Amino acid sequence: MKILLLGAGGREHALAWKLAQSKQTEKIYVTSGANAGLLEVCEEIGIKALEGAKLAEFAKENKVGLVVIGPEAPLCAGVAEELRKSGLAVVGPDLKGSRLEGSKIFAKKFMRKYGIPTADFRIFSDPALAKDYVSSIGGRCVVKADGLAAGKGVFVCFSEKEALEAVKATLEDKEFGAAGSEILIEEFLEGEEASILALTDGKTIVPLESAQDHKRVFDNDRGPNTGGMGAYSPAPVVTEEILETVRRDILLPTLKGIREEGMDYRGVIYAGLMIGPKGVNVLEYNVRFGDPETQAVLPRLKNDLAEVFQAVEQGRLGDVRLEWDERAAVCVIMAAPGYPGKYPKGLPITGLEEARALPDTYVFQAGTVRSGGELLTNGGRVLGVTALGATIGEACRAAYEGVGKISFPDAHYRRDIAYRALKNRK
Ligand code: AMP
Ligand code: GLY
Repeated sequence: MKILLLGAGGREHALAWKLAQSKQTEKIYVTSGANAGLLEVCEEIGIKALEGAKLAEFAKENKVGLVVIGPEAPLCAGVAEELRKSGLAVVGPDLKGSRLEGSKIFAKKFMRKYGIPTADFRIFSDPALAKDYVSSIGGRCVVKADGLAAGKGVFVCFSEKEALEAVKATLEDKEFGAAGSEILIEEFLEGEEASILALTDGKTIVPLESAQDHKRVFDNDRGPNTGGMGAYSPAPVVTEEILETVRRDILLPTLKGIREEGMDYRGVIYAGLMIGPKGVNVLEYNVRFGDPETQAVLPRLKNDLAEVFQAVEQGRLGDVRLEWDERAAVCVIMAAPGYPGKYPKGLPITGLEEARALPDTYVFQAGTVRSGGELLTNGGRVLGVTALGATIGEACRAAYEGVGKISFPDAHYRRDIAYRALKNRK
């Protein structure tokens, strides 16, 4: 079977790496802009992930048996739906399903309707009303732009001043354009975060092993939010008991909502959780694999991913039993200096082969390009180094051993990935 993969980053490299191991996979095509790691396993087709009509034409002409969509942008633009209409087999939700990520307000209303636990919220489009509300609750809250804002539209506010600034940035200064013309003001929830990614074919919902990412750029969760500076799996905060709660109170009601709303949802649903004194609450949905959670979770999956995806697409997920490597995985992201702000490109990378040669160590490329014989940085998040180990501590040591083999000028990485899991174990 020929597969077409949409996307260009580290998550997609992990997906392609895993798909390439399947006996079913004859060839993997990838959309334009793919990093150097992807190009080792895929053939680039020179069509962008958002160009639905061209992708459909290409996929039909080349007898593509399965389309896998990595990022949210094509999903939220309706590309899955468009490809399906031309008869292609696609892993990824339709436009309506994708709104669970594309509109935070839509997601909140969905959660309220189906009784899925989430922080209390109010919706505003008038800045004066939003400011009055913020003042009335004393400031501590979370302000969120409704639409896609590349992870930047969320303001966790600790004071009235911060909350008023967040309202100004979104509703008055329109920093996020139309994505911020409506906002949510949410109750602040305490606790520890974890991610549960689940597969669904619209009939069955099957969680993957738990994971946790690190969103802040610096150690001890300081500095601005990024796409993710590292991840580990499993997340010890997700005990058997918590997982049972997640199944009963979150995943099954989510599936019920998907069905009752008439979504064609064949793909991944990702619930970002806050686990704390108020129980297990959903902070957000994503409608795709997480980046870098995928780089930590997929190396633990024993199943043939191409077969699993076919089952998702054909509505046979109920027949699939996922099997997992008992070992833990830790992924450390190496980023360009300055990320998530401005950063240079074209820095030469060395040592990747040495890192890859270590046992149970995988280097997933995110922002890289090959030029001449050289591997160069080409993005903010450059590489994800994942290692497996008997415990999270051992996986962590192994991942950092891999990181230690690789260098590029002023490479930045956090030195405390998985610290919460290690602390919890003690
Ligand atoms: P989101 O994109 O909605 O997941 O928000 C990004 C980050 O903001 C989350 O990973 C949390 O760290 C934080 N956050 C979002 N909503 C809340 C909330 N209601 N209470 C506390 N922290 C939150
Ligand atoms: N790592 C968070 C995300 O993929 O949205």
